[in-house]
Amino acid sequence: MNLVLTCPFWLESIAKKEIELLWLPIIHSQDKQITTEYSEKNLAKLNLWSRVGNKVYIELARKDKIDSFDKLFDFVKSIKWSDFILEENPIIVNATSHYSKLESIPDIQKIWKKAIVESIKSWFLREDDKYPSIFVEIVLLKDTCQILIDTTGEALHKRWYRKQSLEAPLRENLAAWLVLLSSWRFRENFYDIFCWSWTIVIEAALIAKNIAPWINRTFAFEKFKFIDKEIIKQEREIAKSKILNKSYSIFWSDIDPEAIKIASNNAEIAWVWDIIKFELRDYEDFLETPIAWTLVSNPPYGIRLKDENLEEIYKNLAIIFSKNKELKWWVITNFQFWDLLKINYKKRKLYNWQELCYLYLKSSNN
Ligand SMILES: C[S@@+](CC[C@H](N)C(=O)[O-])C[C@H]1O[C@@H](n2cnc3c(N)ncnc32)[C@H](O)[C@@H]1O
Repeated sequence: MNLVLTCPFWLESIAKKEIELLWLPIIHSQDKQITTEYSEKNLAKLNLWSRVGNKVYIELARKDKIDSFDKLFDFVKSIKWSDFILEENPIIVNATSHYSKLESIPDIQKIWKKAIVESIKSWFLREDDKYPSIFVEIVLLKDTCQILIDTTGEALHKRWYRKQSLEAPLRENLAAWLVLLSSWRFRENFYDIFCWSWTIVIEAALIAKNIAPWINRTFAFEKFKFIDKEIIKQEREIAKSKILNKSYSIFWSDIDPEAIKIASNNAEIAWVWDIIKFELRDYEDFLETPIAWTLVSNPPYGIRLKDENLEEIYKNLAIIFSKNKELKWWVITNFQFWDLLKINYKKRKLYNWQELCYLYLKSSNN
């Protein structure tokens, strides 16, 4: 039995680092998931501390060459389900299949159902208040089959602080990934000059204060019959004791006063209101005002601001970047502004929700 942390495509290397920082071994890594060692303590830690992950699963079993429905049936039946699931637990199964002989999702689910009924005489496909639902994932990739139990519940990227949201926020785990990737040194200034609902600066502040991103929520596994509930309580207390109370120079600015109301609520809920310095400010001020050291921003792009002159914004950004040699910058946008950048940069493709974006970052040879 192992633990699997899933994350968006491209974020795997930081997800791996997060696991290593918790002193857990890397057993296996592939697109969108990293496997580490199972223990109840590791399960609690990973759910509490992963900033870039989507979910943590228990991998009940993994087997190669599952290329027929008979093999799938035997594989599912071979698991001792009664160790993990009460007969009364409603089981909800999701299946995915890529580059595998077994392709039909409805057929995979049918076989599952049969094998589970044989194994624990139970199958409910309904929510039940009395007994928690168990969400099981069956993942087929190149005929290798994984059977996973979801231990997280609501996905980890949906942070507890986002009680109110503005349109089109950056996905929280993507924002955390950007901050971690920027290697911002906490004693230096950190800027987001197009802040909207503050996702980037809140994630930066959580990282700087060493606040576990999930300190404040419960997880699906806390209702599992085979998990000792004391462990997560202890890990939460340990996480609380690790919060740092230092001062930081995190600067937030945006031109829209409406964003302030919602964003300040979010920051207060996230316990970081006191360490973020806010200004209602037009980014154009930075054409004249020097700026250093780290800037991570998600400027407007053609979705909400269709009528505005986006090209003007990106032209000006290119000027700000070339004027401020000490500034290290990371910009995520779907606007293609490489022609406007007259300095060296690197570019990477990624997705915010389902939308293709580009991450532009300052190249070290400027
Ligand atoms: C794509 S949103 C940023 C989303 C943010 N990262 C989040 O997760 O919520 C772009 C932001 O740029 C701001 N903006 C537009 N024009 C601006 C200007 N001239 N100066 C400063 N901010 C501006 C908008 O108000 C909006 O909040």
